[in-house]
Amino acid sequence: MIKDAEHRTPWWKAGVIYQIYPRSFQDSDGDGIGDLKGMEERLDYLGALGIDAIWLSPIFPSPMADFGYDVANYCGIEPMFGDLARFDHVLASVHERGLKLMLDFVPNHSSDQHPWFQASRSARDDPKRDWYVWRDAAADGGPPNNWISDFGGSAWTWDDANGQYYLHAFLKEQPDLNWRNPGLRAAMMDVLRFWLDRGVDGFRIDVLWHIVKAADFPDNPPNPDWTADQTERDRVLQRHSTDQPEAHAIAADMRTLADSYGERLLVGEIFLPNDRHARWYGTPERPQVHLPFNFQLIENSWDARTLARVIADYEASLPAHGWPNWVLGSHDAPRIAARIGEAQARVAAMLLLTLRGTPTLYQGDELGIGRVDIPPGQMRDPQHFRQPGLDIGRDRSRTPMPWNGSAHAGFSAVAPWLPLNTDWRTRNVAAQEKDPESMLILYRRLLALRREYPALSIGRITLVESPDGVLAYERHDEARTLRILLNLTARAVTVRWQGTPLLSTLNGEAEPGMLYPDEGLVIA
Ligand code: NOJ
Repeated sequence: MIKDAEHRTPWWKAGVIYQIYPRSFQDSDGDGIGDLKGMEERLDYLGALGIDAIWLSPIFPSPMADFGYDVANYCGIEPMFGDLARFDHVLASVHERGLKLMLDFVPNHSSDQHPWFQASRSARDDPKRDWYVWRDAAADGGPPNNWISDFGGSAWTWDDANGQYYLHAFLKEQPDLNWRNPGLRAAMMDVLRFWLDRGVDGFRIDVLWHIVKAADFPDNPPNPDWTADQTERDRVLQRHSTDQPEAHAIAADMRTLADSYGERLLVGEIFLPNDRHARWYGTPERPQVHLPFNFQLIENSWDARTLARVIADYEASLPAHGWPNWVLGSHDAPRIAARIGEAQARVAAMLLLTLRGTPTLYQGDELGIGRVDIPPGQMRDPQHFRQPGLDIGRDRSRTPMPWNGSAHAGFSAVAPWLPLNTDWRTRNVAAQEKDPESMLILYRRLLALRREYPALSIGRITLVESPDGVLAYERHDEARTLRILLNLTARAVTVRWQGTPLLSTLNGEAEPGMLYPDEGLVIA
């Protein structure tokens, strides 16, 4: 028995994660915003899709300055989404279907409406003063240092009441918590316990590499490569405001806590170069997160040579105990089909679901939702309003799920909080379920294939020599070797292959000796 357990693959290695952006998944109460009851009504869709785990973006009480990433109570449910009783019901329904549910833990900052911050800002000698990061003004009365908020502008806001600045890596409505304070640390560990005790299967941890800052708050060095078309954040290198050694120790403590509950998963949101990224796995004796999110498919240009290098470098950077993972989209990134077009988005789906490592899918990508132009009056994302000239608004990736061709695409009884994808009348779940050539059916087939052939999920990977424009690799386990050939161009390519084609991203017969334009193939 024990031997079996030791050799069993944990669910999060072989499994596939699906991100739900709750405001835009399914509305059940007619306010134009998604909610937990609506999500529960759509669980069969996720079961049929063939994913294993859901990561739910924040559902906690929030003034929604950053649409939930500003938490006003870590141990409650935002009324527009439901309540704790509804949450428990949803969790039970998820588990009944053999799925897992991960929440979004936001440890770097709370809302400025959180009672902790209200107390902290109330007086310099309040017991919670030190739960946030307060500093005196510089000699000239300006901010304590040159740190820049990720949303633009100084990372410091002056608070008149007590004559100090407070730090915020994001909006001024999202004050940074002080993880050097033992009281805050204990309170946040209790938050994790609260949800683990309720039975959640893990957490995606928001901007984990931000949570501790250099103790003496030195200026960040200027970024010599910065150009005016980049965000203000990139003016400086975040050397002293992120990725501090003490943060790794905290991640390890979070892991110890998670592991004490059995097989629970921690996924850390971390943007760093490979060498520093890999450190977030920790060591076998003192592990940190199971999966530091890997965003390199989003960050790199879409060509075969680049991606082959990205895969090789990433694989080579992993510690022996580190399990890889890949992401193609999120509520923060442009839609994959908008970036590379629908034909290549099909190839991208095959790539994501045949690479070694845990894939995370983003809701709506399985329908191939492309570029959605949000009319100026309907934009909501603070990132857009803080730096309007840069076209970095994230609303385009947050539009509601189009479920069918009825009013408001079956998402809501009323006009939704963000407009639908313009082509929702034809690009929706019901229509794609009926069309064997649709993106949705391709995703279902890929997920089924991945389940059928463990080589595709937990097998080894070897990159294979290939003609220009083609990304090729093999996945192997004891049972078999599968070859994946992806044509990342819109022209036909001659490429030698033999074997039995298991799946093509196009729907016709695969042609031996070639790849059609935009074709991806899995061959046994
Ligand atoms: C990352 C989240 O994914 C993003 O949506 C949010 O704005 C920032 N962290 C701040 O919490």
